[in-house]
Amino acid sequence: MTTNLILRPETQHAPHCRYDPAMMCDSLLFERIMSELSTSFINVPTDQIGNEIVKGLKEIVQYSGAAAATLVEFSEGPPVQPSTVHLWHVTDIPPLSESELMQNLSWGMESTRTGQILEHRHLCDIPEEGARDRALFERLGFKSTVALPVMVGGRVIAVLGVFAHSEHSKLCDLVPRLRVIIQAFGNALSRKRTEEALHRAIAELKALKNRLEVDNLYLQQEIKVERNFGSFVGESEALKIVWKKIQQVCFSRATVLIAGETGTGKELVARAIHELSPRGQRPLVRVNCGALPATLIESELFGHEKGAFTGAFSRNIGRFEFADKSSIFLDEIGELPLELQTKLLRVLQEGEIQRLGSSETRKVDVRIIAATNRDLQTLVAEKKFREDLFYRLNVFPIHVPPLRDRREDIPALVRYFVEMFAAKSGKQIESISQKTMAALMEYGWPGNVRELQNILERAVLVSTTNRLELDDCSWVQGLPASVATVGSPLRGLHDEEREYILKVLRLTGWRVSGEKGAAKILHLNPKTLESKMKRLNITRPT
Ligand SMILES: Nc1ncnc2c1ncn2[C@@H]1O[C@H](COP(=O)(O)OP(=O)(O)OP(=O)(O)O)[C@@H](O)[C@H]1O
Ligand SMILES: [Mg+2]
Repeated sequence: MTTNLILRPETQHAPHCRYDPAMMCDSLLFERIMSELSTSFINVPTDQIGNEIVKGLKEIVQYSGAAAATLVEFSEGPPVQPSTVHLWHVTDIPPLSESELMQNLSWGMESTRTGQILEHRHLCDIPEEGARDRALFERLGFKSTVALPVMVGGRVIAVLGVFAHSEHSKLCDLVPRLRVIIQAFGNALSRKRTEEALHRAIAELKALKNRLEVDNLYLQQEIKVERNFGSFVGESEALKIVWKKIQQVCFSRATVLIAGETGTGKELVARAIHELSPRGQRPLVRVNCGALPATLIESELFGHEKGAFTGAFSRNIGRFEFADKSSIFLDEIGELPLELQTKLLRVLQEGEIQRLGSSETRKVDVRIIAATNRDLQTLVAEKKFREDLFYRLNVFPIHVPPLRDRREDIPALVRYFVEMFAAKSGKQIESISQKTMAALMEYGWPGNVRELQNILERAVLVSTTNRLELDDCSWVQGLPASVATVGSPLRGLHDEEREYILKVLRLTGWRVSGEKGAAKILHLNPKTLESKMKRLNITRPT
């Protein structure tokens, strides 16, 4: 409840009073008050209407020779209850507080709220139910009172109360005029309410529009994903285990950690879990923790308030808030900076987030699915990943095996991708040569399904017949030597081996060991590779 209270030092008969009843004819005075009130309410902006109401109350007090006047606004409800108090009174009454007014005038307020007009020429006119109202008037020295409902569109939106120090004051005779005056109050309050409702509606529309735009973005992404990736392909035992796990976990809210080499299908697994879950109707919100600079991830994940940092021109809701009642896919979780790992831990533990630049915590109901192609346990040992966060994420781990460990999936994947890309490029590919298929089955696929997909996309693109031959695209970087040479004269194992090792070394920039080294691609120990290079007379060009 708000109070709009202005105390003026002048008494009702101050010498500079504008309306001296002795000097002006009563009805002229009344008309002047009315016209001034109406004009001031029309010209004033809505946030100033409260001040104008207090000025109007002062005019009423001075015109009627009363001691105080109050206008109590009611909320629109439900429930309808007093919301704002405007008050003006002469200085010679005991101190009066808003809550005192509210608590003790409840009978008068309730009676007028139902549309009654109350006129009491002396306090003994007040019935027993209004004993508290009467006691307050006695304490304040009021001897006669009137109260009128302010009606707009058949509804009481406020109550005007006027109180005088004398019995039999002219207050009650003024009721017809006060009824005219309160029309001006009613119109002003109604304009204020309409404008406030309009502002609220505009703000709501803006928020809805923002939400729709973001929603749209995700939905478009979803459609793109649906069109590009289709469904899971593969029947290998290894993939069946992955499927079984997806089915076990999808209906729960448990956090899932998907691990696997690049291109194995981790995102596909995450989408399947989300889509099969009860949250599947809402878009899956995706964040690539490795693709955003550390300074941006925090506001991206948790949102920010306007002015939270340079360039934060407006308030932004973060991905976690957006994912409320849905799931969030935290891709490349191993790349999340340490300081944000602490905040993520809090979301996992308490389901709470804090926007940047705000001290307010918000509850979110988000299911977390994280993925990584890095070994999180090694990162924990290297102190690059919080151990407590690792255990929180690792509630339900799913490992997606590399393609080389489930080669039996390759034929189905090849057919699936070839059909997909042929349809996309308007080509008709009816068969795949056996040699090509054999070569694809043999290759190590360090880039897994994505690498296979890319190679087949290019192969379909350059294919000129309805039979797919991979030697058509031997220019493809990274294509295995055995595939690239399909169709060329056969060579000895020694030459083949030498050529393939050379090719891999060129691809890795002559790096032998490490994550991106040739030994890893060739599934060899770096020492073994070095001795092979010596034996095959392979030396790094200067
Ligand atoms: N079993 C599968 N069936 C059909 N398509 C697949 C399968 N596995 C992976 N793919 C496709 O391979 C591509 C790579 O998959 P995805 O993006 O899910 O891999 P990822 O493990 O998330 O890779 P990265 O670690 O590089 O992000 C996608 O286009 C995906 O649709
Ligand atoms: Mg991925």
